Amino acid sequence: MIDFTFHNPTRIHFGKDSLSHLKEEVLRYGKRVLLVYGGGSIKRIGLYDQVMSILNELGATVWELGGVQPNPRLSLVYKGIDMCRENGVELVLAVGGGSAIDTAKAIVSGACYDGDAWDLFTGKGTNTETLPLGTIVTIPAAGSEMSNSCVITREEDQCKRGRNTPLNFPCFSILNPEYTYSLPPYQTACGVVDIMAHMMERYFTQVENVELTDRLTEGALRTVINNAPIVFEKPEDYDARAEIMWAGCLAHNTLYQTGRVGDWASHKLEHELSALYDIAHGAGLAIIFPAWMKYTLPRGGEKKLAQFAIRVFDVPEDFGTLEEIALEGIRRLEAFYRSLGLTTTLHENGIGAEDFDRMADRCAAMMGGSVGFFVKLNAADCKAIYELAL
Ligand code: NZQ
Ligand code: ZN
Repeated sequence: MIDFTFHNPTRIHFGKDSLSHLKEEVLRYGKRVLLVYGGGSIKRIGLYDQVMSILNELGATVWELGGVQPNPRLSLVYKGIDMCRENGVELVLAVGGGSAIDTAKAIVSGACYDGDAWDLFTGKGTNTETLPLGTIVTIPAAGSEMSNSCVITREEDQCKRGRNTPLNFPCFSILNPEYTYSLPPYQTACGVVDIMAHMMERYFTQVENVELTDRLTEGALRTVINNAPIVFEKPEDYDARAEIMWAGCLAHNTLYQTGRVGDWASHKLEHELSALYDIAHGAGLAIIFPAWMKYTLPRGGEKKLAQFAIRVFDVPEDFGTLEEIALEGIRRLEAFYRSLGLTTTLHENGIGAEDFDRMADRCAAMMGGSVGFFVKLNAADCKAIYELAL
């Protein structure tokens, strides 16, 4: 186990009555509120009205920034920054999924940075403070509600960049599993894949003697795998929705990375995919992660991939060689994704090999020539993984 500092400052209000905490949170930060949300799901489920009624009751002044698209765009971030500056906004409240939350994260930092907010994603500039940010989550997936990450796409060159900084932790997040009842099966499935990916990126490490974090992660993965079929059959099963929602929050709050180095190559490979083809992040991960596993297996990944197969997917220890056990684990993972109605190859999504060089070069270049820690991958390796995913 390697040294670590674990600090996550986000206050979580979880459960059926969690929205009742919004009042005290707004009073803590200020009544000039920018509300950030997506394409309308929060209005359809009645959450928008509930939030507005609480804000109105408090006498808050509310500015609205709706229309956040999945794979959120930089142009809307600029708009939100202007709104904050012009109106003296005191609290930014994101209601929705990772896309609304990440837009809000970029806004609260950008509003406190005297320059182009994109600099914060390229490393050209940095901020030291932010406006306060609160979130109300409607889809368990990105885990942005308790994460230090923010991912934004610049439209002009389809460049999707993440920024990790403690400044990205929301001050508070409200999670009511009932808000997720309305999720279409496809979005539920994409969320499940992303949650598992956040666990697996941290699980696949070469750091030895990390039994506690391994066991915690395996338990969390098994919990998600057990509960996903239940919500597919019964979308309004509170307990199953709650298990998935809490798992999604913990998956990305850095607890499962304590004492080790995460990998993150699959996320980087996927971000190139969703930047160019605008597919859902979770759908992209269902394609990329198994291909990454197949590629890393003979390159030092055997032992951990076999452990994953045995402990998460119950592959018997006497199934065969370590390689055979690992391959069976990957096969079961793909079968699980398919059972959720997702695909596991690029061609099933109408994506061919024409952009592989561009995506592989960009992916490796972003990290100074190589990506990943479980196995270090250069641009040629990245391209080979896209080819395996074809
Ligand atoms: O836009 P609306 O109308 O709200 O509809 C959304 C959207 O179409 C819909 N939805 C959300 N809650 C719903 C609902 N529909 C019905 N009922 C509900 N209760 O679901 C769709 C997807 O929403 P989105 O916010 O895009 O999903 P997600 O949470 O998966 O976020 C994806 C974005 O987060 C980034 C991804 O790359 C992607 O850009 N990520 C952010 C991370 C972070 N900040 O920590 C980490 C992740 O690895 C990820 O990269
Ligand atoms: Zn993710």
